[in-house]
Amino acid sequence: MIEEIKQEIKTKLITYYKEKYDILLNVVVEEPKKAEMGDISVPMFVMVKTLKKPMPEVVSEGVLAIESFGLPLESVNPTGPFINIFVDKKKVSNRVLNEVYTEKENYGLSHIGDGKNVTLDYSSPNIAKSFSIGHLRSTMIGNSLKLILNKCGYNTYAINYLGDWGTQFGKMIVAYKNWGDLETIKADPIKELNKLYVRFHKEAEADPSLEDKAREAFRQMELNNPEYLDLWKWIREESLKESQQIYDLLDVTFDSYNGEAFYNDKMDSIVDELEQKNLLKEDQGAKIVDLGDDMPPALIKRSDGGSLYITRDLAAVFYRKKEYKFDDVLYVVGNEQKLHFEQLKRLVTKMGYDFSDNIHHVGFGLYLTNGKKASTRKGNVVLLYDVLTDAINLAMQQVEAKNPNIKNKEEIAKNVGLAAVVFADLKNYRGLDIEFNIENAVKFEGQTGPYLQYTGVRIASILKGKEFDPSNLNDELFLKTHYFELVKLVSEFKTAIEGAAKEYAPSIVAKYLLNLASSFNKFYSLEKINVEDEKTRNTNFLLAYSVRTVLNEGLRLLGIKYLEEM
Ligand code: ARG
Repeated sequence: MIEEIKQEIKTKLITYYKEKYDILLNVVVEEPKKAEMGDISVPMFVMVKTLKKPMPEVVSEGVLAIESFGLPLESVNPTGPFINIFVDKKKVSNRVLNEVYTEKENYGLSHIGDGKNVTLDYSSPNIAKSFSIGHLRSTMIGNSLKLILNKCGYNTYAINYLGDWGTQFGKMIVAYKNWGDLETIKADPIKELNKLYVRFHKEAEADPSLEDKAREAFRQMELNNPEYLDLWKWIREESLKESQQIYDLLDVTFDSYNGEAFYNDKMDSIVDELEQKNLLKEDQGAKIVDLGDDMPPALIKRSDGGSLYITRDLAAVFYRKKEYKFDDVLYVVGNEQKLHFEQLKRLVTKMGYDFSDNIHHVGFGLYLTNGKKASTRKGNVVLLYDVLTDAINLAMQQVEAKNPNIKNKEEIAKNVGLAAVVFADLKNYRGLDIEFNIENAVKFEGQTGPYLQYTGVRIASILKGKEFDPSNLNDELFLKTHYFELVKLVSEFKTAIEGAAKEYAPSIVAKYLLNLASSFNKFYSLEKINVEDEKTRNTNFLLAYSVRTVLNEGLRLLGIKYLEEM
């Protein structure tokens, strides 16, 4: 609301000066450094120069103009070169809270993405390797971004670009043929396939010819060798089953599971196009594209004719442009692939297309355990599934300690445990490395998902079975700082959502929710909510209801379930 008033002051001032003096002024509207100065501040020195009038004159004219706009303002005060403005706290609060009351979970809806298509590429685990905790970040950031973008009006298309093609399958096939046993594998496919993969790398250290064999096996796959393709198909299905367990648990969905293999028959035309455009160069039998002095060339075809990761991504980006008509395409992939996506963008530009600025690598940091990255090759991978079940078990202990007789214990513990893991991730700006500490993440206090759920549950129990009339309020209360601060925060929900959508950063919503919860808890320590006086009670209930509504909706946008009890 205050954000909207700010925007309105800005546009109306611009129109005012345009109409009166026929000049386009760069009007700045901000928040004063100190809250006691006002809610909104307009620095006028920016305009003095252009208007060629003395400061006091410019300021008093500005004051009169702002007062004429008919906005819910209480006072407009000239203060040196600034105009400091207090909004009408009663009117604003009434509007904000009633908006939440009528719009409910639709509160905060934005239209910045109306009519735009965004394709999101996230999760994208590598088939035949375990779904590692490293993929958690992609899955949860991508899922949350999808929900946030939808809330902003964007049409989204979610793609799980499975890593189901490439030399690693050649390695799998060689390993399987040398050391695999079908029965053992069938009993526990992913674990056994992982073992084979690890073994391949160990043996290849002693016998490098294995690498050649793997490349040859993959080349055979690209040439549609039926035996290899059957084996590949089976491995892919088994792997997907494992990933699906995790998606079900986290309630994450996709519109497509077209992975790298899907592009096997779509690369030739792209390579032809590169050829026609004279971009392809021979380099020791391989085919490369020079991308300039500031980055290494892109390897498009190996000397044996095999395709590469970037070849497939290049085919995929054109396919997506054509199929989904994206305005923007997002790749939620670790920072370590920064160069890969820079190369992809450069390739698109070199081919003469103008949409490379709409290709966004939404990078994220590493998931560290004891300060180190885990990797599949060495076999010391931290399994996401284990982390999730550990968190759920810890959550169960807490629920039992706090509320031993509660119904649906299992369901609650599951949702608390998942909230812990997801929030511990999303509260950090995605670009940063994060050190994950499960004990801290599950706690009901501190900056955790369960803390937010718990705050919501507290409010739910305050409101349980209560009725209130949102049109019969005690307006005077909104003049109190702790009331108005809370209203103001509620009104900033949309700004947080839009910020998260623009920066592709769910952490903006996560941090906002932490503020909101702690502000409410402060409020709750100062005020009794269910009081005798009817108007005061209505006001308190409406405020609590609004906080709860925003909290729930905010958690939903992060992919976290809110609870009625815990
Ligand atoms: N499968 C890849 C990996 O785990 C991530 C794929 C990301 N998406 C893409 N279009 N390259 O590293």
